[in-house]
Amino acid sequence: MNIDPKTPVVDFLFLFLFVSSCCFLGRCCYAIDTIRSEQSIRDIRGETLISQDDIFELGFFSPPNSTLRYVGIWYHKIDGEQTVVWVANRDVPISDRNGVLRIGNDGNLEVLDGNNTIVWTSNASVPSSNTAAILLGTGNFVLSSNESIGHTTKAYWQSFDHPTDTYLPEMRVLMSIVKGENHALRSWKSASDPSPGNFSIGVDPFGAPQIVIWNQTRRMWRSGQWNGVVFTGVPNVSSFASFLYGFRLSEPEADGSMYFTYTPPNASDLVRFRMGWDGKEEQLRWDDGLKSWTVVQSEPVSDCDLYNFCGNFGVCDITKIPKCSCPQGFRPKFQDQWNRGNWSGGCERRTELQCKRNASDAGCNSEQDGFKGLRCMKLPDFANRVTPGNSETCRGKCLANCSCNAYADVTTIGCLIWTGDLIDVQNLDKAGHLMFLRLPRSELGSGKKISNLVIAIIVLAGVFFLCITIWLLWRCKRKMKSEIRNSIPTFYGSNGNEFSADLSGSTELVVDGSQVNGPELPLFNFNFKCVAAATNNFSEENKLGQGGFGPVYKGELPTSQQIAVKRLEVAGRSGQGSEEFKNEIILIAKLQHRNLVRLLGCCIQGEEKLLIYEYMPNKSLDYFLFGRFLLSILLIQFSQHFMIKSMVDQTKQALLDWGKRFAIIEGIARGLLYLHRDSRLRIIHRDLKSGNILLDEEMNPKISDFGMARIFGCNQYEANTVRVVGTYGYMSPEYAMEGLFSIKSDVYSFGVILLEIVSGRKNTSFHLSDCKHTSLIGYAWELWKENKPMELVDPSIRDTCNSSEVLKCIHVGMLCVQDSAALRPKMESVVLILESEGTPTLPEPRQPKYICKKTLKGSDGTDFYLDGQDFVSSNDVTVTTVSGR
Ligand SMILES: *[C@@H]1O[C@H](CO)[C@@H](O)[C@H](O)[C@H]1NC(C)=O
Ligand SMILES: *[C@@H]1O[C@H](CO)[C@@H](O)[C@H](O)[C@H]1NC(C)=O
Ligand SMILES: *[C@@H]1O[C@H](CO)[C@@H](O)[C@H](O)[C@H]1NC(C)=O
Ligand SMILES: *[C@@H]1O[C@H](CO)[C@@H](O)[C@H](O)[C@H]1NC(C)=O
Ligand SMILES: *[C@@H]1O[C@H](CO)[C@@H](O)[C@H](O)[C@H]1NC(C)=O
Ligand SMILES: *[C@@H]1O[C@H](CO)[C@@H](O)[C@H](O)[C@H]1NC(C)=O
Repeated sequence: MNIDPKTPVVDFLFLFLFVSSCCFLGRCCYAIDTIRSEQSIRDIRGETLISQDDIFELGFFSPPNSTLRYVGIWYHKIDGEQTVVWVANRDVPISDRNGVLRIGNDGNLEVLDGNNTIVWTSNASVPSSNTAAILLGTGNFVLSSNESIGHTTKAYWQSFDHPTDTYLPEMRVLMSIVKGENHALRSWKSASDPSPGNFSIGVDPFGAPQIVIWNQTRRMWRSGQWNGVVFTGVPNVSSFASFLYGFRLSEPEADGSMYFTYTPPNASDLVRFRMGWDGKEEQLRWDDGLKSWTVVQSEPVSDCDLYNFCGNFGVCDITKIPKCSCPQGFRPKFQDQWNRGNWSGGCERRTELQCKRNASDAGCNSEQDGFKGLRCMKLPDFANRVTPGNSETCRGKCLANCSCNAYADVTTIGCLIWTGDLIDVQNLDKAGHLMFLRLPRSELGSGKKISNLVIAIIVLAGVFFLCITIWLLWRCKRKMKSEIRNSIPTFYGSNGNEFSADLSGSTELVVDGSQVNGPELPLFNFNFKCVAAATNNFSEENKLGQGGFGPVYKGELPTSQQIAVKRLEVAGRSGQGSEEFKNEIILIAKLQHRNLVRLLGCCIQGEEKLLIYEYMPNKSLDYFLFGRFLLSILLIQFSQHFMIKSMVDQTKQALLDWGKRFAIIEGIARGLLYLHRDSRLRIIHRDLKSGNILLDEEMNPKISDFGMARIFGCNQYEANTVRVVGTYGYMSPEYAMEGLFSIKSDVYSFGVILLEIVSGRKNTSFHLSDCKHTSLIGYAWELWKENKPMELVDPSIRDTCNSSEVLKCIHVGMLCVQDSAALRPKMESVVLILESEGTPTLPEPRQPKYICKKTLKGSDGTDFYLDGQDFVSSNDVTVTTVSGR
């Protein structure tokens, strides 16, 4: 409780006041934060409320250079000038110190002047008069029922719903299409007059929401459209800054209204936004060292920030002199005003749009209008957010309406079109978006010429490279053939096998004579030199990738059969003799399934151990899923450059629609089931990941590397301890942390791949700092828990997929990635579920807690239920004894 030192009191009176104020509200000598009915705060006694952590204070105050009294809230904690953040009776000041704040008979808060006239009331509908009001540590003054005060209950009234000129963190700013523009904060009239001034700041909900500063009803500044993360028209000046970070837009409530909130990066900082009486919005942060408020960010800053500074269709660029210019195809509307630096007239079209011209005109020149892309634009005001139809694009939507002047397709917002003049356009340095300005063909001229030139160059370059490549290939092949011819004497002789039969003429033999294990098994012991020649001596150009056990090369046999060669790096250290190795290979080569990559043969020469596989032209699943596919990247760049947005989506979609994805999921499941149960060897893969799923011409999935774990047996942490066999993100918790693996760890990896296929996102590509989103699994669980699993689905297929199949898949995926190995289904159940018609009743998945990389090696008390039956220790990988040696 504060005693205003300015109040002149004689000692006994002071004592009297002290005692009486101590007994005031029944609590002695503590700062109080609550006022109850029958209680009051009197200006004359200097009484105030102070919030719990001494941050805010509520009471009577006078602004600088004024003697008028107002009820307000200011920072208690900070030294220096009083910083008022809220004023109750901003219109009706009290002229003397006889004002009283109390809870009135109807339960509302009221401010009375010396004549007991109500000058301000909270005027809420209060169900009972038994109320109390509390000043919270956030600066919110909340009126609620007496019993529930201080608990989080419904407030009858709160100052956060009636802000004056200051926004405090945790305040909610309404955004509602129904209620229209929300002028949330209104400036003071002057530094010494809190009554409402000319300037306000708030939310314009139409199109994509924006923050706007108004001078009365005229717009003075706007933030640019909200894209879900930032306001797109505010350049990123400093990283702590500003409007860019910390804002959130809540989910829509039942009536469609949403709320903007702001959370400062450092919760202990005192931060506020203020609409100044001079028309400047400022974000301020209290600097404890300097004992003053520092301006973190302020708007508007430059001329270009001033609303529509260059007039309609004019483009402002702060880095240029002059700042204003007209875009291509436009000219100043009032040339001499413009030359004098009066930009307000703006620009106009040089040539009318084709669609606006009379039909007879159009007859001779009926070309459609085109678009010119402008980069880094603060998108114009008054956007219409439209949803293009199925076959339509955003561009098509704009072309369809003659009054459409521009469009932009912003990933997180969608399609925006502008049907009026383009207002308040700015060219930003490092922010903004690509906007397409509609122009008649005749005005696109020069741009089109450049495009044609670029196309011509690209085509010529392409043809040139193609020729070179073909020539090189041809030379290579010739060279290789002649090499083989020359080296024939060093090769072993042949007998009639399929390779020799295919070899042209007398040229012989790649293989070392005998088929290794009887006629039914087409496994060959390849000659090292031949394999080396086929892969161009393991050249870098022929390298397809790096697997867990060594690099993979592409090769072509003289029979022109394409092969993939894995050169085992760790073979020498695996402790296996070449005889054992060969036997393992023979066993593994016997495994044949349409969803496993076929092993054609091997080659052992000294320390060198090679495995020869059939070659898969379509690369691996991750190339398709995660857009690393070179062609699509090129296509995307190409189409972005030439503004054919639709092409991007179509290319990617065409590659993997839901039908294909589901077939791939089923294929992987069957392949895995074969390895786990149906094959004679019962193989645990241990490094199942989308990079190990190869796709053939018809996009059938084929599991590769499946025999590796078996070949390398015991020590899954290879001698080279830096590399753990297995890939982070796909390893089950018990394998990653304890080195325990079982068929259930493959099930886990399968679950991850399944979720990746459904979502089109890589498990390890999550970089959000928030722990719960470090992985796809965590993200998937969030959505699952919130009962909106469909949001996980790759946006490119979300509208076209079969949702019951998708839901079934996600459910299976969630079951497979459970922490407890015992709770994960076996592959036979997975295949059954996937192949069943309709949706069988499945158990509810448990939350995967192992979703944070940090817990990988930690013993954080996470429970793992070990299924004794399935588990084999790391020293005992061989589950069934090897037969047939
Ligand atoms: C209180 O609110 C009612 C409508 O809810 C309004 O008619 C009345 O004028 C308000 N009274 C004051 C004093 O603001
Ligand atoms: C507010 O607007 C009125 C009328 O347009 C003007 O007279 C007054 O000076 C303005 N006040 C400020 C602080 O700009
Ligand atoms: C937050 O602010 C407090 C006090 O100013 C400081 O001690 C702390 O280091 C800050 N934390 C971060 C993450 O910046
Ligand atoms: C600027 O140009 C506009 C439009 O031509 C005109 O109405 C206005 O009076 C001019 N302002 C000044 C200060 O010349
Ligand atoms: C179009 O035709 C109408 C009458 O047919 C005429 O009044 C108008 O000037 C023409 N507009 C243009 C741009 O040629
Ligand atoms: C074109 O857009 C304007 C403005 O939004 C609208 O009034 C008009 O109906 C639209 N015309 C067509 C054909 O959609």
